[in-house]
Amino acid sequence: MKKLFFLPALAIIGLLFFQGISKTASESESLSHEIAPDMPPHIKAIVEQKCYGCHNAKSKNEKGKEKLDWDEFEASKKSKQMATKGKIAEVLEAGDMPPAKFLENKPEGKLTETELASLIEWSAGKKKSTQE
Ligand code: HEC
Repeated sequence: MKKLFFLPALAIIGLLFFQGISKTASESESLSHEIAPDMPPHIKAIVEQKCYGCHNAKSKNEKGKEKLDWDEFEASKKSKQMATKGKIAEVLEAGDMPPAKFLENKPEGKLTETELASLIEWSAGKKKSTQE
């Protein structure tokens, strides 16, 4: 008679176990979504050409890599990226990047109007005003 009590108990334990598994699965799913945010290929291409050289962990540009490490930025969470994107939009809107000093020696490093507009649109989440 006593043995029958085991059955519902086993069922409950099994159910709890299953719930636990499905919960961690959905949690890690939303976590990976948080880690892998949008990085459009055309933005990546511009950054790799015009920004990455100074803004990566191995750059010789100490100040540049200290302020922004692109690989770290790409790997970071959405919330952190939002803050960095704000800074990127700021320097772009002010025309501060790439630095003027650098462009004196390497004018081809300058962003074209289209590239600048794309980067601002991406980082600030808006279109650049064309009425100027
Ligand atoms: C020739 C090297 C060089 C290139 C190319 C360059 N940067 Fe920089 N960047 C720097 C340096 C140096 C600093 C630090 C400036 C300072 O602290 O005054 C910096 C700082 C920044 C910062 C941080 C500003 C802050 O105050 O936190 C951002 C954002 C940035 N750059 C974005 C960009 C973007 C976007 C591009 C490409 C369009 C770019 N940079 C290209 C050298 C470079």
